[in-house]
Amino acid sequence: MLFSTSRPKRRVLYDGKAKTIYEGPEPGTVIQYFKDDATAFNKQKHAIVAGKGVLNNRISAHLMTRLESIGIPTHFLKSINMREQLVRQVEIIPIELVVRNVAAGSLSKRLGIKEGTVLPYPIVEFYYKNDELGDPMISENHIVTLGWADPYELEEMVALSWRINDYLNGLFSGIGIRLIDFKVEFGRLWGEYDELYILLADEISPDNCRLWDEKTGEKLDKDRFREDLGGLVDAYQDVAKRLGLIPESGIIQGGNVDEQIAASLGEIENEVGRERKLRSVSKTSSPTKPWKA
Ligand SMILES: Nc1ncnc2c1ncn2[C@@H]1O[C@H](COP(=O)(O)OP(=O)(O)O)[C@@H](O)[C@H]1O
Ligand SMILES: [Mg+2]
Repeated sequence: MLFSTSRPKRRVLYDGKAKTIYEGPEPGTVIQYFKDDATAFNKQKHAIVAGKGVLNNRISAHLMTRLESIGIPTHFLKSINMREQLVRQVEIIPIELVVRNVAAGSLSKRLGIKEGTVLPYPIVEFYYKNDELGDPMISENHIVTLGWADPYELEEMVALSWRINDYLNGLFSGIGIRLIDFKVEFGRLWGEYDELYILLADEISPDNCRLWDEKTGEKLDKDRFREDLGGLVDAYQDVAKRLGLIPESGIIQGGNVDEQIAASLGEIENEVGRERKLRSVSKTSSPTKPWKA
């Protein structure tokens, strides 16, 4: 029998800006590998930030698990190691949904609304996920007319985004953080009888949320990188610490990830996905009952 000293090569399905997607161990699964690359302004700005991947992997796994616990269907299956998680493979809907509670970023710039202005009601925005075009903002009309999503899929994505916003607002407020805004992506999954499910996919981390300290207003998210404020990884560590995901001492020693501490974080809430019953949005089949008859 032949043995090899190198690990079997996994097939790369997609090499993105912040993550690499590998073929998973079973059909219908993929592995998300979280890189240390930080990019902004459609890749015009790029840097390697040691530890960012580990922190985002950990934070996203936690938030996805919490969202599952309130009935939001997500792609998350389990954490594999400090940089990787196993997720269900979905067909990504090429729309980014942004939910805003407080004016910041492009909303402030485009419409001249002072950053920090509390919106009387959350705003949901849509962007076409296309790097070549710079992720342009679009309306629900574009989405349906250009066939990126069906009306009932859109309705489901918006409804889920509102629930995610409500839940995450409470979660972050409990640890002294304001959720200013966030971006989510969804994907399609087909069941045994061709019924369609819409799942929350990609990641939820300080890379795609705006998080401000409640007391000081300090930014604890990727704006630190966009605005050259420095201390990106410390801010992400602060979020992870407040969520109770890493020890108070942190996981970075002398600018590098302390591999031992990071590896000892253990597998995160590994049970998700076993007892779960997904809810079909398909019009062609009868609704799935989320309880046992
Ligand atoms: N469960 C999933 N199945 C398939 N693709 C996914 C899943 N979750 C996320 N993706 C896609 O994988 C990519 C993740 O890598 P990322 O670095 O975020 O890429 P990008 O440069 O496109 O933002 C994204 O394009 C995202 O839409
Ligand atoms: Mg991305």
